[in-house]
Amino acid sequence: MAEPKENVLMEKLASLCKRRGFIFQSSEIYGGIQGFWDYGPLGAELKRNVKELWWSSMTRMRDDVVGLEATIIMHPAIWRASGHVDTFSDPMCDCLLTKKRFRADQIELQSGNAYHFTGAKDTTSAKEVSEPYAVLLAAGKPPESARKTAAQFYAQRGLQAVELLGERMEKVENSQRFNPENGSLLTPPVPFNLMFKTYVGPTATEADVAYLRPETAQAIFAQFKNVHETSRQKVPFGVAQMGKAFRNEVTPRNYTFRSREFEQMELEFFIKPDEAVEAITGSVTTVPETGHPGEPQPSWGWQAWHHYWVQERVRFYEGIGLSLDTLGFHRQTPAELAHYARACTDILFKFPFSKRDEQGNVAGDELEGIAARSDFDLSQHERSSGKSMGIFDEELRTAFGKLPPEKQTELKDRYYQARLKYLTKSGVPVAEAGAAAQEDADGLAKGQYIPHVIEPSAGVDRLILALLANAFSEVTETDAKGKSETRVVLKFHPRVAPIKVAVLPLLKNKPELAAKARAIFESLRGHMMAFHDEAGSIGRRYARQDEAGTPFCVTVDFETFEGIKDGPQAGVKDTVTIRHRDDGKQERIAASELLTWLLARVR
Ligand code: GAP
Repeated sequence: MAEPKENVLMEKLASLCKRRGFIFQSSEIYGGIQGFWDYGPLGAELKRNVKELWWSSMTRMRDDVVGLEATIIMHPAIWRASGHVDTFSDPMCDCLLTKKRFRADQIELQSGNAYHFTGAKDTTSAKEVSEPYAVLLAAGKPPESARKTAAQFYAQRGLQAVELLGERMEKVENSQRFNPENGSLLTPPVPFNLMFKTYVGPTATEADVAYLRPETAQAIFAQFKNVHETSRQKVPFGVAQMGKAFRNEVTPRNYTFRSREFEQMELEFFIKPDEAVEAITGSVTTVPETGHPGEPQPSWGWQAWHHYWVQERVRFYEGIGLSLDTLGFHRQTPAELAHYARACTDILFKFPFSKRDEQGNVAGDELEGIAARSDFDLSQHERSSGKSMGIFDEELRTAFGKLPPEKQTELKDRYYQARLKYLTKSGVPVAEAGAAAQEDADGLAKGQYIPHVIEPSAGVDRLILALLANAFSEVTETDAKGKSETRVVLKFHPRVAPIKVAVLPLLKNKPELAAKARAIFESLRGHMMAFHDEAGSIGRRYARQDEAGTPFCVTVDFETFEGIKDGPQAGVKDTVTIRHRDDGKQERIAASELLTWLLARVR
């Protein structure tokens, strides 16, 4: 990736995206709407390519994953069962002076001297305000500026000639209670639920409340039984879905990185609980935590599957041009993990806005999370809907029956403990939970269980932004008169490039060149996104395609008709020139071979 200064690069990227029709601000003619973005002609193609590649690699190219396309609005009980109604919130606070809104957990840690005031009075009217207020100053700064800010705060509460009351100074370390921009105290953080509410039907009462889905995943859990029964898949298998998700983010930021409407590509990969694997294969194998573990094995437990999916996803990113050195990894700590999750690895991309640590290293920001979610989601829906989410596994029933009694007891006991933990943590009274967990353990011995799940969950829009940032590069060229010009080249991997090939007649006013170029274009467009351009000098047209990220330009020139002039192929006719975007190199191939040549490189 090119390395201009971070925000300069983001500004250049955003300006290119608008100028070339990748990304526009939603509702721009009305001043825009924060956190919403539209994809223009090139952006729409880029996005479509990314989604098709994900869909193809996740479903069509695998025997063990099928697809789903569910509705955006679902029964609100789904979001109660999943925990989103109660807990899908971010802490929000406002600046007491400017009213600017912050996500409380994202405020940078600040240290310094906090000047507290118990209130203020108006020296002309004797009116008093007894609301406490504080201002944080960097150590060593004179307190006068804190007093000035405090006077502004009390003036907003109706005082004219402000006299501050009850001043005291306190040393503060690593606080998130002050506005980093002006030092003003913030309101206490309050949880803000991120789901967009709407009403289903005309009456718009509380009973009609529904939510725009904040993730695509829950539909997969809700439809698990239908998919399992109709797809003839056996655990382990996965269900993939991509589509819109909506979150009323407190502070959308970093261009499209944190949006309020975005798209997700999610896989729920259902696996057997480790106790079932052990009963069938004798033991649960683990895999080395480095590199791809190879083809899935029946003896894999959740750890091996989790590692496998992290590595599969890294392969996907590498296959579309994000090299390993542009990615990072964050394994969530026990404190960060949701209570039901066993592990979660985030794949990060080093965005231009990603922060550097003290050594100057960039960790990156989340592109995708791969979580091992145990059997929590299906269990929640089973309890909430009253419909069984369990499956019957004949192989397990047979294998369990052949185990020695002490092994049966050991596996049943482990499964019992795991189910008991889930049930008690979900608020089921202990006695009731014990009986239910015992029933589950007895069920395991008969081949019944609720599948566990590994969830690779990626954001389309974040990936688009990563691909744009990764592709962005500038070249400076000096012409014969010594004039330099810097222009942008988007070095997309051909698989994701919005336009795969541009077909250009060398000269517009030569009818035979124009007709041949048009015919070649027509022969390609049914197979890939092709573009035909005859306007302007050939150099300008190449530059336009470089800026759009088109990997190949095909030029029809005089040698196409007259035959190659020099070299071993001299005299050969009906050839075209292919120009490569990244190094400007040109090669000549037979027009009849063009489609095959291109397909081998763009798929
Ligand atoms: N079902 C799990 C889930 O939704 P998440 O980490 O909240 O997990 C998964 O979201 C992915 O969705 C993220 O890694 C990110 O790529 C994308 N995503 C989440 N919130 C987003 C937002 N506000 N704007 C753009 N993408 C977002």
